[in-house]
Amino acid sequence: MPPSIAQRLDKIKDLPPMPNTLQKVLEEMDSIASSAKRLEVIVRQDPVLATKILKVANSPAYGMSGQVQTISHAVVVLGFEEVRNLVIGISLTQAFGQNADLKEFPAREMWLHCIGVATVSMEIATLLGDMEPEECFTMGLIHDIGRFLMCSFFPEDLKRILKLQEERQIPLYMAEEEYGFSHTEAGAYIATKWNLNERMISAVRYHHRPRSAGPEEKACAVVFLADQLCHKLGIGWSSNWLADKIKLPKALGLKGPQVQAIAKKIRDKKKHLEEGWSKALGG
Ligand SMILES: [Fe+2]
Ligand SMILES: [Fe+2]
Repeated sequence: MPPSIAQRLDKIKDLPPMPNTLQKVLEEMDSIASSAKRLEVIVRQDPVLATKILKVANSPAYGMSGQVQTISHAVVVLGFEEVRNLVIGISLTQAFGQNADLKEFPAREMWLHCIGVATVSMEIATLLGDMEPEECFTMGLIHDIGRFLMCSFFPEDLKRILKLQEERQIPLYMAEEEYGFSHTEAGAYIATKWNLNERMISAVRYHHRPRSAGPEEKACAVVFLADQLCHKLGIGWSSNWLADKIKLPKALGLKGPQVQAIAKKIRDKKKHLEEGWSKALGG
């Protein structure tokens, strides 16, 4: 029997550890919600992150070029939530760096995809009213984390999967399943290693098949829908095989026009989103 995904990942000695800053922000998510000061302290302890936050705050999108010199000013300019999202996003991208960079999966485009899915997941959660928008942001951000692992550590498998996809004309995640090495399982492996909570792990494992997610079906359905919308709207990386119709998961109880309204909102802020995050990603 071929080794399982977990067995293959077990053999890798230099898997990225949970980024320190990300851990702090996630651990203190609840208390941070009421403490911009605590967030500032966390950011200041991470100079690379602090520099990037200032770069975003000074980008033309916010009309403040060069005037923002401190993190507390950046929080005023960008807003607490946006800074927190940037902190989570930047610290996660730092964990993988640019070594996960295959021709078919340019790292920057992949991160923009994840950031897009995070942002759309947050919008969907806000509309639903009974999901935590910040938590949905983080779920969206990490949903494809397994792809970065595959690009970094298993590029040859990934090439064979792409070939299989080409031959069979099926979505990439199905080609992975058929091949026996999926980004969802690889991602769930690292999310578990990082001690993320069950909901986060489920979002990684089931974002292509939310109906298999049991008690976390709704959370996974949020990411599932956000993922499709980002592909449709062309935010960041997209597979060369796309379904032409958006599948609206029943678990969300949303109607078509509500989804169209979210799509419009995201389309309107697409440029802003891409510009701001390109700065954060080091551009
Ligand atoms: Fe995915
Ligand atoms: Fe995705």
